[in-house]
Amino acid sequence: MAAQEKSDILVFFCNGKKVVDRHVQPEVTILTYLRTKLLLTGSKLGCGEGGCGACTIMVSKYSPKHKCISHYAVNACLTPICSVHGLAVTTVEGIGSTQTRLHPVQERLAKAHGSQCGFCTPGIVMSMYALLRNKPVPTMEEIESAFEGNLCRCTGYRPILQGYSTFTKEGCCGGNNANCCMNAAAEEGVSTKLFDPSEFTPYDPSQEVIFPPELIMMLDKESPAIQRFLGDRVTWYRPVTLQQLLELKGSHPEANMVVGNTEVGVEMKFKSQVYPILIDLNFIPELTTIETSPTGIKVGASVTLTTLDEYLKKFIQSEPEYKTRIFAAIVEMLRWFAGHQIRNTASLGGAIATGSPISDLNPLLMAAVCKLEVVSKRGTRMVTMDGNFFTGYRKNVIAKDEVIKVINIPYTLENEYFQGYKQSPRREDDIAIVNAGMRVVFKPGTNIVQDCTLAFGGMAATSVLAVKTMASLNGRSWSDGLVEAMCPLLVQDLPLSPGAPGGMEPYRQSLTLSFFFKFYLFVLEQVSMKLPGLSGVSIPASYKTANQSYHKSPVKGVQMFQEVPSGQPDSDAVGRPLTHLSAIKQVTGEAIYVDDLPQVKGELYVASVLSKKAHAKILAVDATPALEVEGVHAYVDINDIPGSNMVGLGPTRDDPLFADKEVIFVGQTIGLIVADDQAIAQRAAKLVKVDYEELPALISIEDAIEHSSFFKPQNSVKRGNVQEGFESSHHILEGEVKVGAQEHFYLETVSTLVIPGEDGEVEVISSTQALKATQSIVATALGVRENKVVSRVKRLGGGFGGKESRCCITAAVCAVAARKVNRPVRMMLDRDEDMCTTGTRHPFMGRYKVGFNDDGKIRALQLNLYSNSGNSLDLSVSVLERALFHADNCYNIPNIIVTGYPCKTNLPSNTAFRGFGAPQSMLITESFVSDIASKCGLSQIKIRELNFYKEGDRTHFGQELKNWNLERCWEQCLTKSDFDNRRRDVDQFNSENRWRKKGIAVTPTKFGIAFTYKPMNQAGALVHIYTDGSVLIAHSGVEMGQGLHTKMIQVASRALHLPQELIHISETNTQTVPNTSPTAASASSDLNGMAIKAACETLLQRLEPYIQNNPKGSWESWVMAAYIDRVSLSTTGFYKTPDLHYNWETSKGKPFNYFTDGVAVSEVEIDCLTGDHQVLRSDIVMDVGDSLNPAIDIGQIEGAFIQGYGLYVLEDYRITPSGHLLTKGPGFYKIPAFGDIPAEFNVSLLTRAPNPFAVGSSKAIGEPPLFLAASVFFAIKDAIQSAREDAGIPGLFRLDSPACSERIRMACQDQFTQQIPTPEPGTYTPFFIRP
Ligand SMILES: Cc1cc2nc3c(=O)[nH]c(=O)nc-3n(C[C@H](O)[C@H](O)[C@H](O)COP(=O)(O)OP(=O)(O)OC[C@H]3O[C@@H](n4cnc5c(N)ncnc54)[C@H](O)[C@@H]3O)c2cc1C
Ligand code: FES
Ligand code: FES
Repeated sequence: MAAQEKSDILVFFCNGKKVVDRHVQPEVTILTYLRTKLLLTGSKLGCGEGGCGACTIMVSKYSPKHKCISHYAVNACLTPICSVHGLAVTTVEGIGSTQTRLHPVQERLAKAHGSQCGFCTPGIVMSMYALLRNKPVPTMEEIESAFEGNLCRCTGYRPILQGYSTFTKEGCCGGNNANCCMNAAAEEGVSTKLFDPSEFTPYDPSQEVIFPPELIMMLDKESPAIQRFLGDRVTWYRPVTLQQLLELKGSHPEANMVVGNTEVGVEMKFKSQVYPILIDLNFIPELTTIETSPTGIKVGASVTLTTLDEYLKKFIQSEPEYKTRIFAAIVEMLRWFAGHQIRNTASLGGAIATGSPISDLNPLLMAAVCKLEVVSKRGTRMVTMDGNFFTGYRKNVIAKDEVIKVINIPYTLENEYFQGYKQSPRREDDIAIVNAGMRVVFKPGTNIVQDCTLAFGGMAATSVLAVKTMASLNGRSWSDGLVEAMCPLLVQDLPLSPGAPGGMEPYRQSLTLSFFFKFYLFVLEQVSMKLPGLSGVSIPASYKTANQSYHKSPVKGVQMFQEVPSGQPDSDAVGRPLTHLSAIKQVTGEAIYVDDLPQVKGELYVASVLSKKAHAKILAVDATPALEVEGVHAYVDINDIPGSNMVGLGPTRDDPLFADKEVIFVGQTIGLIVADDQAIAQRAAKLVKVDYEELPALISIEDAIEHSSFFKPQNSVKRGNVQEGFESSHHILEGEVKVGAQEHFYLETVSTLVIPGEDGEVEVISSTQALKATQSIVATALGVRENKVVSRVKRLGGGFGGKESRCCITAAVCAVAARKVNRPVRMMLDRDEDMCTTGTRHPFMGRYKVGFNDDGKIRALQLNLYSNSGNSLDLSVSVLERALFHADNCYNIPNIIVTGYPCKTNLPSNTAFRGFGAPQSMLITESFVSDIASKCGLSQIKIRELNFYKEGDRTHFGQELKNWNLERCWEQCLTKSDFDNRRRDVDQFNSENRWRKKGIAVTPTKFGIAFTYKPMNQAGALVHIYTDGSVLIAHSGVEMGQGLHTKMIQVASRALHLPQELIHISETNTQTVPNTSPTAASASSDLNGMAIKAACETLLQRLEPYIQNNPKGSWESWVMAAYIDRVSLSTTGFYKTPDLHYNWETSKGKPFNYFTDGVAVSEVEIDCLTGDHQVLRSDIVMDVGDSLNPAIDIGQIEGAFIQGYGLYVLEDYRITPSGHLLTKGPGFYKIPAFGDIPAEFNVSLLTRAPNPFAVGSSKAIGEPPLFLAASVFFAIKDAIQSAREDAGIPGLFRLDSPACSERIRMACQDQFTQQIPTPEPGTYTPFFIRP
C-alpha cells in the first residue's frame, strides 16, 4: 500500500463547476463544505441528522461499468465530503436563480404559495428536482413519496403538493377541466383559484444540466487503486476491490466502515464518537450488486435501500406471488422506512451491522432466517440471522476484522406466509415503537404449522425471537383458539419490566399481541382461500378490516375566498392572493437568514457548555482542557458579564444568562467556548468539566402541585356566583385533562451574529421575533444604554412564538462573549441544543367542576388551570391570562371562576407558542362540553348550539361580542362538510367494523385579538419616498414566513395608490423603528398596517398640492416636484389599538380589540389494535374579515391547523424523570409530515364579513385557526368511544392530549390489552414522563 502514503486530491463537480481540494477534512459533511467553503448557503441546516430534509441536494453518479448516470436526492448533512469524490453535486443554486431563470420546480412552488418562511424550501425544491430528473412526468403518489424525508413547519403542505401536482399527467390543470378542484361550485364573487398554472413555464427535461463530461473521462480512466484522503484528524479510504477492503480491515480492524453514513454520521455529530479511520464501502462491486440464486436473492451489503426496493418491486412483478412473499413484506416495510434521501444512501448491511433494537429490517431478516456471507482476510463464513445473531445492544457475532459481503434472502414456498408489521408515532419517516416479522410454513395441504418464526423489534435490547410461542405453534392447527392460546406465551416471550428503556411498556406489549392477531387473520384468509371448507374457523364479518393495510389516495381539497370587488383598481393590491414577496428568493436559495450572512472580518464561533442536571450545585468548572485546544480563544461565563446576569422581559429579572453557582434545568448555559470555527468550538465545549452536587428537582405539573411551587400572580377571572350555579344545576361533572408540551420546531434554529463596535456599541443580528427585547436584554447584560445596541433581522425561518423571548438570552450571552474577545461572534444552536434550552408551549393540566342541567345548558364552571412554566417567569403569566380569557371558548357560562397557577419547575423556561395558552384551555373546555353532551344524550352539535354566545352577549370577562360571526361559520361548515350524512355513515361503518373505527367531530373557536399586556398594542412605521418614486418602508414587525411584509406592502399600495412593485421593505431594525412590540399575538398586521397607513396618508397629504397642480402627472413627477420644493418625503406613522382596558379585581373590561372565529369538522379512522390513525377529511370555515391576502390567510389557516394537529395528536414531548429531554431532534420528536395532512382538506373564508376594527376591514389570522385541529382530537375520541362500546365499556373516559398512538390503543381496551399487566403508578420509576 505504498501508494497510500500521500493524500489523494478530492475532485467533484458542484453545479457544473469543478471543485478540487488538496487537503480535505474527511469528517466534514458536504453541507458544511457547501455553506462555509463554497459559500453556497442555499442548502440549509435544519437538524444535522437526516430528519428534516432542509439540506437536500442531488448527487449524480456515473458508472464506468454500466456507462450510465444515476441521480438521487441525499441529505447533505449526513453526506461525508469524501463520499462525493468523482460525483456531481447539484444544489438549489445550481438549477435556477433570480438572475438567470427560475427552474419550473422553483417557480411553481413559489407561485402556488408553497413557501412561507422558506427555510424548508430549498430542500423541498431539490427533492422535487431529483424526482423529475428520474421521472419527468411523475404520478401524484410518487410526488408525495418523494417528500417523505422533508418537513415544513409553516405551510401545512397542501400548497406544495398542489403546486407540484402540475407536473403530473392527472395534476392541477388550473381550472381548465370541468371537474377541476379549482372549479368547485362556489358562490358568485367567490374564487377557488389561488394561482394560475397556465402562467407556469413548461417543464422541458431536455434543458437540464448534463453530467460533467470531464468527470466521465476521469472515471473511465481511473485505475482500480485505493483512494486515501488524509485529514488532520480523520483518514478516509475508498477501496475499490474486495481484496483492498479486506487488507485494510485486516490491518485496521478498529476502522469504521461507512456506506450511507446515516448511522455513523449521527454518532459522530450527536454521540461525540470519533473515528480516526473511515472506510467507504460504496465502490466495491461484490458489495453493490444483487443477484438471484436457486434459493433466493443475494444482496450485496452496500446495496442501498432504494436500489433494493426497486429491484424487489421488479422481481415481484416477474415471479409467482408465493415465491416473493418475504420480498413483498420488505417492500412494504421500506415504504415506512425513513425518507427517500436516507433510503437513497443507507444500506442493508449498515442496518444489520448497526443492530438497532428498533431496526425495521432486522426482524424481517430474522423471521426470514436470512444467511449472511461474512468475509475477512481469514476467509469466508456463513452466519444465520437467528436468535443468536445479536449478542447485546447494537452487538452481533461479526468480528471486528470481518465484513458482511452478501445477505441471502430466501424465496417463500407455496405453503409459507410472511408479513411485516410496524407501529411508530408517525407513519412516515419514523422509527418503530414495535415492529415484527412473522413467518409460518404449513404442512402441505393442511393448516397445521410445520415451522414458524416470530421476530420482534422494540421489545428488548436487540431484535428478538418469541421462542416459546414459536415452539408451541409448531404442530398446531391455524384455527379458532390459536390466538387465545398464543397470547399468554407472547407475553412471557416478550416481557417488559416497569420502567424498561423506551417506556410505554403495556402499549408495546399489547402491540405484540395485536400484530400476532393481525397475522393470524391474514394467514387464515390466505389458507381459507386455498383450503375451502376449513373446519374450526369462524371469523365474524366485522373482523375483516382488522388486517387492512394502510391506503391513502392523493390529497385533495378546495380553498374558497372572496374576490376583490369589481372595479378595484389594478394598482390596489389589497385582497388579492399575491405571492409571498420573498418566495422567489426562497425557492432559489437566495433569501438570506442569519446564518447565511457572510463571515465578518475576525469573526469567531461560540459553542455552549450546558448543564447536564436539572437542579444541582456547581462544585467546580474546569475549562482548562478546552482552552488548550488549538483555535480556542476564550471561555466565557458569569464572571465576564459587564452588566447584569439576571434579565427578564418585565420588571422581574429572574432569568440568569449564565448559571450562578447552581444549575436549575438541563440545558442551562454554564459557559461558552469561543473558537475559530464551529467544529473547534463544539469539540472544545465538550471538554469543559463540570462537577455537580445534585439537588431535588421538580419536573412535572404534579410535582409542582405537590410542593406548592407556583409563580405569582395566580390570577382568576370570575363572574356570577359559582356556588349558586352548582346548587341550581341538575348535574355536576368533575374531571381532569392534560395537554402536553409542544416544541416549536421552527426549521431555522436560534441564530445570532454579534458585532461589537466603537464606544460600547454592538450590533446584534439575530433570529428574533422581538427586536426590542433583544436590544434591552443585550443592553442589560453589557451594562450599556439601549441606544448603543442595534438589533436587526431580515427574516426568520419560522418563529411561532419560540423566538419571542428565549432567543434574547442567546443573543445576550453571545454579546458578552463578543465583548470579552472584542471580535464578532456567531452562534447557531444545533437542533438538539435548541430543543433542550429554548422551552416549549406550556403543558397544561385543567381540573374542572362543571354544573349543567338535563337539557345540557351549562350553569356553572370552576376551572383550575395549571401550566408548567419551567424555571423562570418569562411570558408564563401572560400565557395563563390568555388561557383564562379563552376558557369559555364560544360558550356563555353564567357562573364561572377560572384560576391560573403558573407552576415553577426545573424545566427550561416555557414560553410563547402560537395561540399562547388559549389552545390548551380551550381543549380542556371542549373536553367537558363533549362529556356533558354524552351525559345528557345530546348530539355534539346540539350541546354547542345550546350554549353558544349570541351577538351582543358579554364574555366571562365582560367584553361585548360585536359582529359575532361564529354561528355563520358554524352553519356553513356543517353544510359544506355534509356533517349529518357523514355522521350517519360513520355510525354505520362503526357498527360493521370491530377493529377499525371512524369518528367525526365539529369544533368552534373564538380568539381574542390584542396583546393582553396593553402597552404592547402599539406599532410604528417609517416611510421614505425616494426621488425616483420608489418607497421604502420600515415597521415594527418581523417577517417570519407569515407574509407580514407582503401584507404591509399591500396596505401601503392601497394607501399610496401605487403598484406594489414600487414599494420595498428591507429588514426590521431598532434604528428605524424604536420600541417595537414583539411580532406576536396575531396582531402585527393590524398594528403595523395601521401605522404604515398613517405614515402613507401623511406623505400623500404632503404630495397633494403637487398632484393638484399637475393632475395628469405621474407619481414620479409629483415626488420630484415635492423634493424640489423641499418637502420632506419621509415620515413616521404610529398606531395604538384604541379602547383596551381590563381590571383583574373586577374581572371586567375589554382586553381584546375583536375576536376571530372559525369552525372545523374533521373525520378520522383509527386502528383499534395499534392506535394508528388517519385523518380522512377536514373542512374549515374561518372568518378573516375582508382578507388582505387570501393566499396568505389560507396558508396561515392550513399551517396553523396542521401545527395544531401536531399539538393534539402527534407531538408527544417526553422527558426523563431527571429532566432530560428524550424527544430530541426530528428523529424522536415527530411534527406532522406530508403524509399526515387530511386526505381531503377544504378551507373557506367567510364571505361578506368585513371587520370594522382593523386595517382594510381584515382580521388577524396567525393564531386563531390552530385550535380548530382539536376537531381531529375529538374525532379520534369519538372513534375510541365506539371501540369501547363494542368492548362493553360505554360511558365517559379521559383522553389527554396528544392523542398519540399509545393513548389511542390503550383507550380502546379489549381482550388483548387486558392480558398485559399494568404496573401500579408510584411503585417504579417510569422511563419517561410527560411534563
Ligand atoms: C433520518 C434517519 C431515519 C432513519 N429511519 C429508519 C427507519 O425508519 N427504520 C430503520 O430501521 N432505521 C432507520 N434509520 C437507521 C438506518 O437504517 C440505518 O442508519 C441505515 O440502514 C444504516 O445504513 P448506512 O449504510 O447508512 O450505515 P452507515 O452509517 O454507513 O454504517 C453503519 C454501521 O454499519 C457498519 N457496516 C456497514 N456496512 C457493513 C458491512 N458490509 N459489514 C459490516 N459492517 C458494516 C459500519 O461499520 C457502521 O458501523 C434511520 C436513520 C436516519 C438517519
Ligand atoms: S439538516 Fe439535513 S436533514 Fe435536517
Ligand atoms: S415554509 Fe416550510 S418551514 Fe417555513
